[in-house]
Amino acid sequence: MQKKLIVGNWKMNGSLAANQALVRGVLDGLKGLQVNAAVCAPNVYLPQMQAMLQDQRALDLGAQDVSLHEQGAYTGEISADMLREFGIRYVIVGHSERRQYHGEQDPHVALKVQRALHAGITPIVCVGETLAERREGRTEEVVKRQLAAVIHVNGHCISEVVLAYEPVWAIGTGLTATPEEAQQVHSVLRKQLKAATEQAQRIAIVYGGSMNASNALTLLKQPDIDGGLIGGAALKVSDFLAIMAAASQCATAS
Ligand code: PGA
Repeated sequence: MQKKLIVGNWKMNGSLAANQALVRGVLDGLKGLQVNAAVCAPNVYLPQMQAMLQDQRALDLGAQDVSLHEQGAYTGEISADMLREFGIRYVIVGHSERRQYHGEQDPHVALKVQRALHAGITPIVCVGETLAERREGRTEEVVKRQLAAVIHVNGHCISEVVLAYEPVWAIGTGLTATPEEAQQVHSVLRKQLKAATEQAQRIAIVYGGSMNASNALTLLKQPDIDGGLIGGAALKVSDFLAIMAAASQCATAS
């Protein structure tokens, strides 16, 4: 069975009580759905989530960032090996909010991917253009540059990542790329991956940017859209489950 991957990115939201209610609801509703699912929680809640998610396989745990350093005098940083101790399967790397507010650039993102892979954690590598870049017709150039930096440092190990296409102008804005616009960029990325590895077809390329209960199905039906990275809609049980139900409809026999 070829399943779509739906990942919730909680960003800087949540509390011990809210997380518990959210995850309980999601675990209940997930039963019977044909989907690979995960939530990326703020670091301080990883122990709570690890405890809640043990003894089940329906919902994986992820983090939202990782240090590009291995260990040492980097106040405030969290290493990939530390994350691994908390049962982390995924880590988001190079999210546009990290690039925009924390000065992360392509070489940093590439090194973070390397750290995650080395620790046995699957990086979810985010690429995406700003509105100005799209208007200037530079979308493909930008996402190809961002992906090329990661391929350059990680070589054939690129086959172990999840790639997320997240147009910056669509994140948290309610604006979504049309299914055709998203598919177009996904197919460009797939082509670039094919030039780097024979495994390109099995790399999940997920879409992120205001995916919600009403647009998920048409996006997920596109041939190169293998799942979704969900921000706002991952914070409400019913919305997140509706997206996962849409993903389940798109699961195919393989
Ligand atoms: P959004 O966020 O779904 O709220 O647009 C997606 C993301 O930033 O990963």
